[in-house]
Amino acid sequence: MYFSTKIIKNVLNTSIMKWGKGSCECYPKYKVLSRYCMQKHSSDNIFIDFHGNWPETEKSVFLNEMRVLPNFLSNEEEAQLLDEVEPYLKRLRYEFDHWDDAIHGYRETERKHWYPHNRKTIQRISDVAFNGQIMSYIHILDLDEKGVIKPHVDSTRYCGDTIAGMSLLSNSVMRLIRTDEKKYQQNKTSEDVDSSYRNQPKPSTINNFYADILLPRLSLYIMSHSARYNFTHEILANENSQFKGEKILKTRRISIICRNEP
Ligand code: OGA
Ligand code: MN
Repeated sequence: MYFSTKIIKNVLNTSIMKWGKGSCECYPKYKVLSRYCMQKHSSDNIFIDFHGNWPETEKSVFLNEMRVLPNFLSNEEEAQLLDEVEPYLKRLRYEFDHWDDAIHGYRETERKHWYPHNRKTIQRISDVAFNGQIMSYIHILDLDEKGVIKPHVDSTRYCGDTIAGMSLLSNSVMRLIRTDEKKYQQNKTSEDVDSSYRNQPKPSTINNFYADILLPRLSLYIMSHSARYNFTHEILANENSQFKGEKILKTRRISIICRNEP
């Protein structure tokens, strides 16, 4: 299947596209417009742009382990989540001081107890991404327009095999670069690998393969297993924020990120 930039634009602009028409075999619990459905074994995916020399087997595994569900949230659900988290975020200031940190220009908090309508949204993530086994603390990351998430791998000390994040307020591009095989797998004891919350290997896009992932506002991504362990992930700064040749404007972005226990 070939996806034109027109379709990408449609996905980015349309908040009328709702879960509910057609069905999708990849996400049996949730229905999406079937024309946007990713086919499980297709090497083409509207939200993924592969770069470099991908071995075919890695590519098909990756397509199952890095998934984007467009319009996972409705506008109303996004507004309700914002109503709940904004009062807490507003008390914090954006962190721009430590250039060594994996994230620059951000503020973050955690939340365990949610208003019932938002709890329902979290429960949907738990069902679709974690088989109900979700960590009770949910991470809320507010990235300033000038903010950037640099390449890192989440520590296996604090996070299990799956990370699922909703994107609020802005579209963005996430880049996954192949890094050292097995180095970040769960149950490794090596101190140097897991001492910080986010490990920052220095991945290179030269002589390597990587993928850019379009994360539309209101979408949910589910990154698991080798996509989570064998690749760094990052959110591109606005200057480099492009997808399949289209500039993707990243404004202030709030992500609500769920993880499972190590
Ligand atoms: C992180 C992270 C991604 C996101 O906080 O470790 O990678 O979607 N966040 O904000
Ligand atoms: Mn991360």
